[in-house]
Amino acid sequence: SLLFAVGCGTKATTEEGKGEDVKTYKVGTDAAYAPFESVDPSGKIVGFDIDVLSAIAEAEGFKVEFINTKWDGILANLATNKMDIIVSAVTIDDERKKEVDFSDPYFESTNYILVPKDSPIKSMVDLKGKKVAVQQGTTGDMAITKFLGKNYDGIKRFGGNPEAFLELKNGRVDAAVADSGVVVEYVKANPDQNLKIVKDEKFPKEYYGIAVKKGNTELLEKINSGLKKIKENGEYDRIYKKWGFQ
Ligand code: ARG
Repeated sequence: SLLFAVGCGTKATTEEGKGEDVKTYKVGTDAAYAPFESVDPSGKIVGFDIDVLSAIAEAEGFKVEFINTKWDGILANLATNKMDIIVSAVTIDDERKKEVDFSDPYFESTNYILVPKDSPIKSMVDLKGKKVAVQQGTTGDMAITKFLGKNYDGIKRFGGNPEAFLELKNGRVDAAVADSGVVVEYVKANPDQNLKIVKDEKFPKEYYGIAVKKGNTELLEKINSGLKKIKENGEYDRIYKKWGFQ
């Protein structure tokens, strides 16, 4: 197995278990996107994505090591073999499919608009002429850039989602746009900020996928097989409810 690992140039390590090789895969995640991935007070990376991939690993007999990784260029860590898997609430899209391979979809999402309770913004159209904060390179960024125009100067883009939400808290923008689950969680966790959620069906339905290096079908098949197993045995549903989804 060591020869195999070296031969394949993979960073996954192998260790001799009870007569069986257990591979450890390095997993990149931008752990500032609760409830999908975040760092808990003890410094541990936790969240829905973490539990789903850990359950898949358990079902398939491999190990995972989560590495907090910045969102910008996160998928590029696969091509360079720095990481084996990216799980980071990544929406499956055609552009990204050119760069990486995605698992079967594991979560349905969309984008929501986050505004102060007294905001007049009621839809995407109302963002025209307003300042909007977003995490750079996300589907939320892509959707509002497409809608408001490439040259619209009211979009403030941040490397991390928390900075985008902080900009709204500090009153420097009129709205923030992020994944539905993240917006819902933030409003719940920050009742003191007097925020409300604006939904607009112009934001398309999206599906999250787990990404591997292009052509790594061996790992992708394990992930898809594990995902199927945890959906069938109720583990996925248990994790779904644990993180507040219904
Ligand atoms: N689902 C969106 C996308 O793929 C946002 C994901 C951001 N993830 C994160 N961990 N910050 O673009």
